[in-house]
Amino acid sequence: MTPLLAAALGDVGEEMDRQFDRLLPVPDDARASLYQAMRHASIGGGKRLRPLLVFATGRLFGVDRRCMARAALAIEAIHVYSLIHDDLPAMDDDDMRRGKPTVHKAFDEATAILAGDCLHDLAFDVLAHEDTHADPFVRVELIADLARAAGPAGMGGGQMMDLKAEETTFDLPTVTRLQAMKTGALISASVEAGAILGRVPVEGRTGLRGYARDIGLAFQIADDLLDVEGDEEAAGKKLRKDGEAGKETFLSLLGIDRAREQARLLVDQAIAHLHAHGPEADLLRDIARYVLERDR
Ligand code: IPE
Ligand code: IPE
Ligand code: MG
Ligand code: MG
Ligand code: MG
Repeated sequence: MTPLLAAALGDVGEEMDRQFDRLLPVPDDARASLYQAMRHASIGGGKRLRPLLVFATGRLFGVDRRCMARAALAIEAIHVYSLIHDDLPAMDDDDMRRGKPTVHKAFDEATAILAGDCLHDLAFDVLAHEDTHADPFVRVELIADLARAAGPAGMGGGQMMDLKAEETTFDLPTVTRLQAMKTGALISASVEAGAILGRVPVEGRTGLRGYARDIGLAFQIADDLLDVEGDEEAAGKKLRKDGEAGKETFLSLLGIDRAREQARLLVDQAIAHLHAHGPEADLLRDIARYVLERDR
């Protein structure tokens, strides 16, 4: 990891912890465990890759840091909600996440469902607030894009297909589509949010969209590789699950070597999409390499 990336990840991690802490004070009433569960899932852990993408993209266009922090928090809230629900017994049935017990283990299933729901709602509450951007058109664009990315044409739909991947055989184009929805959509929304806040016209976003699509796929191939080759301690979650579940992934279709080769090509291609940008895009380039090199 480059010093530039290490410093940026550290800063964004602290910023997200601070913001979740500020937004989620535990009330002194019967909702206390709901807030505690939301805090358990959202504070202190995770790579904060999606928030970092908002910052790394927004800075290309001189976006105000406080605006980027709010959009970044909203996307991370959606991501954390998706992890809480992904870990539930009805889905992947996992006990560990980010090196801690999953929310339904630390609390209970009903609390975990509600904590996920409420983090989802928090995301849109934060985006709708005027502190996110003075122009309501910009706020609505952020809201609409994140809603699409999280919904049935994006992450939610990808999760549905992923469940089916345990019992169906999918071909490579179908698995690619599944992964682009399940993981790629939120990663793309993070880059898009930086461009929306920077008021970049749609015609000007082509390179960034290509970058986001390619790192999204590379990111999921890396997640699948970690599932087979990774270290549980470093990853902070249980591994060797996909094979056990008989899940169709890039790895089951391509094998380890070809999958890694494909991911390398995607990283190179992602960096090539940034050709119009100078050194100010070096953080995005570092992120593209990190997506595959990471061990967690
Ligand atoms: C894990 O996402 C779930 C996938 C979409 C593959 P991350 O690997 O970004 O998880 P955290 O946020 O670092 O915990
Ligand atoms: C989860 O994918 C993706 C989400 C949208 C939450 P996985 O089930 O592969 O993620 P991990 O491996 O549990 O982090
Ligand atoms: Mg899953
Ligand atoms: Mg899972
Ligand atoms: Mg996985």
